[in-house]
Amino acid sequence: MPFTLTETFKTRAALVCARYPRKDAALIPLLQELQREKGYVAEEAMDALAVFLGLPYSRVKAVVTFYTMFNRVPAGKYHLQVCRNVSCHMAGAPGLLARLREKLGIAEGETTKDGLFTLSAVECLGACGTAPVMQVNDTYFEKLDAGKLDALLEDLRHGRLRAIGR
Ligand code: FES
Repeated sequence: MPFTLTETFKTRAALVCARYPRKDAALIPLLQELQREKGYVAEEAMDALAVFLGLPYSRVKAVVTFYTMFNRVPAGKYHLQVCRNVSCHMAGAPGLLARLREKLGIAEGETTKDGLFTLSAVECLGACGTAPVMQVNDTYFEKLDAGKLDALLEDLRHGRLRAIGR
């Protein structure tokens, strides 16, 4: 199915592009805009954005596939991204991932049947000093432990995405 950039997107894109000396420098923020609008960045959306920015499709795809923050398939309402790099690994990330797999009944890369949660293991989130870290959509949860994780899941199930104490 052909993908069309919405007028809302094009209006926002013009504002974003105006902040940069060259249109192609706006690639990442525009991919974020697309993802905010649709929840993920489909192949067709990458193609449409490449045409819009006058870039090769391969350049757009390379960026989308490099950064784990971009979803290439529809994700759940809450995308749980657990850092699996060294600091977080040593601070208990494997246990947190195992707990999430068990509580949600899904593996990494999967979404719960109710569409509420998608689980991913990702590379360093740049908050190693407060490991272990999990990103939920655009919000970081740091110094996590089993208790905080359980409380957070409960909050999310009730539609509350709020920072928890460090
Ligand atoms: S290792 Fe987890 S945030 Fe850097």
